[in-house]
Amino acid sequence: MRKRKSRRKTGCPRPTAAPEGNWLTRAPTLKRKAILLAKIQDEAGHGLYLYSAAETLGVSRNQMVADLLNGKAKYSSIFNYPATTWADIGAIGWLVDGAAIMNQIPLCRCSYGPYSRAMIRICKEESFHQRQGFDILVTLCNGTDEQKAMAQDALNRWWWPSLMMFGPGDKDSKHSAQSMAWKIKRFSNDELRQKFIDVTVPQAEFLGLKVPDDDLEFDESTGHYRHGEIDWQEFVDVLAGNGPCNRQRMAKRRKAHDDGAWVREAARAYAEKHAAKDAA
Ligand SMILES: [Fe+2]
Ligand SMILES: [Fe+2]
Repeated sequence: MRKRKSRRKTGCPRPTAAPEGNWLTRAPTLKRKAILLAKIQDEAGHGLYLYSAAETLGVSRNQMVADLLNGKAKYSSIFNYPATTWADIGAIGWLVDGAAIMNQIPLCRCSYGPYSRAMIRICKEESFHQRQGFDILVTLCNGTDEQKAMAQDALNRWWWPSLMMFGPGDKDSKHSAQSMAWKIKRFSNDELRQKFIDVTVPQAEFLGLKVPDDDLEFDESTGHYRHGEIDWQEFVDVLAGNGPCNRQRMAKRRKAHDDGAWVREAARAYAEKHAAKDAA
């Protein structure tokens, strides 16, 4: 009983649920389940490519994993929001993977080889993720009133966190100047956010959904959408560990790591046995 109460207070529906994992067993059809499973597999791969790229800078993977688990390493703020309905899986693919593509396409041509090469494959896979999300929403929006309302509710909850994925506004972004100088970053946070809004608003219109921003307006003179104020306090709070699911998601991550200890041990023992055999 107490648990349920605190869950409601934090807005995180389940103490342990990661967004896609939570819906994998609840996917509405076998086909949707297979597609979601493929997406999850891709995402695990993205983690591995990026850890490999980071290892070339001289940090060990064990160190990076330890930093993540003890809260030292940062991860994207978006992973701290709950996925409460099946429509969220659609909205996450459409908006979160969509925003990731916007960020990552320019990185395919950044100045650091290991990073740019990893990004080329990641972007191909992200575009499939974006399509799977949009396809879920197309289906819901052509369904019953209740399904369409579910899609609208998911858009309402994911729109602003997706815009925050591009990071703080240019004038408040601490690391941008350095990353631009090194040609790691090729477009500013605000430029990428604007591009994302410009391509995504017409997609929302196609779905017949309303973007939850009363100040959103197409500016004929610039050819871009003007948007309302982003609640940066929310962004700061989520980054500081106070998002709706921060604690639950980190606890889940640590538990998965602990539960998997025997697999790592077995793999190590197997590798050592073979190394000894080869040496003999
Ligand atoms: Fe990814
Ligand atoms: Fe993705």
